[in-house]
Amino acid sequence: MIPYAITIGHGILGKFPRSIRSLGLGKDAVIISHPFIQRLYGAPLSAALKKAGYTVKAVNVPEGEKSKSASYALRLIKQISTYDVDRKIFIIALGGGVVGDLAGFVAAIYKRGVPYIQVPTTLLAQIDSSIGGKTAIDLETGKNMVGAFYQPSLVFTDTKLLKTLKPRQVRNGLAEAIKYGIIGDAKLFSYIEANHQKFFKGEVKALNFIVRRCAAIKARIVAADEKETKGLRTVLNFGHTVGHAVEAAGRYDQYHHGEAVGLGMRVASRISVSMGLLSVKEEERVNRLISSVGLPERIVGVRLAKILDLMRHDKKFTAGHNRFVLTPKIGRVKVVRDIPAAIITEAIQNYLS
Ligand SMILES: NC(=O)c1ccc[n+]([C@@H]2O[C@H](COP(=O)([O-])OP(=O)(O)OC[C@H]3O[C@@H](n4cnc5c(N)ncnc54)[C@H](O)[C@@H]3O)[C@@H](O)[C@H]2O)c1
Ligand SMILES: [Zn+2]
Repeated sequence: MIPYAITIGHGILGKFPRSIRSLGLGKDAVIISHPFIQRLYGAPLSAALKKAGYTVKAVNVPEGEKSKSASYALRLIKQISTYDVDRKIFIIALGGGVVGDLAGFVAAIYKRGVPYIQVPTTLLAQIDSSIGGKTAIDLETGKNMVGAFYQPSLVFTDTKLLKTLKPRQVRNGLAEAIKYGIIGDAKLFSYIEANHQKFFKGEVKALNFIVRRCAAIKARIVAADEKETKGLRTVLNFGHTVGHAVEAAGRYDQYHHGEAVGLGMRVASRISVSMGLLSVKEEERVNRLISSVGLPERIVGVRLAKILDLMRHDKKFTAGHNRFVLTPKIGRVKVVRDIPAAIITEAIQNYLS
């Protein structure tokens, strides 16, 4: 079991103060977010907290991956420390994965650690990044290069907040949901196949279903390997080896994370077929679902050499050896070592435009 609760519901933001009452936090909340999310959801959250006797300070960073940087982290820390006089603060990360990773990192290092709560507002954050305690900022040399494992006191997930997401953000999260289906939950995969339009319409039942189901899978896997030392978390990287390379090749601008992961899952499925693990029929099913939700079909404007070069930075590629997360069947996962370079190259080429 993970050492903190994940509370999931629809329209539960007003119940936030009650949910944190027993956590032994201080009375001074610092909400880290983006300006428009503060307006949309920070304001009601803040009102509920004040009504319950808390003080609230809102601090913001601009939207986008560029905020996950040392300079924004330091800026936040300075703002918080100026405010933090005669108080007992805790941090609320109100936003998507960018805010979650950055605010979690700030919570981990400010005064050697203050408590924080994840209030994820994107589908990707609700089913993935808010769970597991990985916090980070990026460097010029790469994403998530500086960070810490630092667990939140609570993950508080209100699926109602997803109703303002743009379709591209819904897709971004669905890529990870499809990943969970492929690596460990064939029923979830079938559910997404049958219901994918409902997510874009913000249907409560469908959203609650996948958020609960995916959050449970992520929680189960990270609980078994809290600090990623046992290799069990590796399966979460299905589609991510090539995905991360495509994301980096596009300078984190051309493709969103989920879009790149969608492409990476196509490549990983192709490699699974080439290695004699997956049937072509199952591969087609994977590709069909990735296309149905509107994720990219081809890797555009990126050179093969660039992708291969970037892949060498992957933790699963060391000293001439590689490890790939593959699937023998939807719902099953297998980590395979030392895949012939020609098979990897061919699989990527298959999707290059
Ligand atoms: N810590 C982990 O385990 C982990 C796992 C996966 C990804 N990540 C990180 O997560 C980040 C990506 O997260 P993301 O996809 O959530 O992106 P994001 O945080 O940049 O959010 C995407 C966009 O959606 C907007 N948004 C957020 N909530 C909204 C809402 N309710 N309504 C309307 N718009 C909203 C944001 O302002 C932003 O512009 C990356 O930095 C990645 O490295 C971390
Ligand atoms: Zn991911």
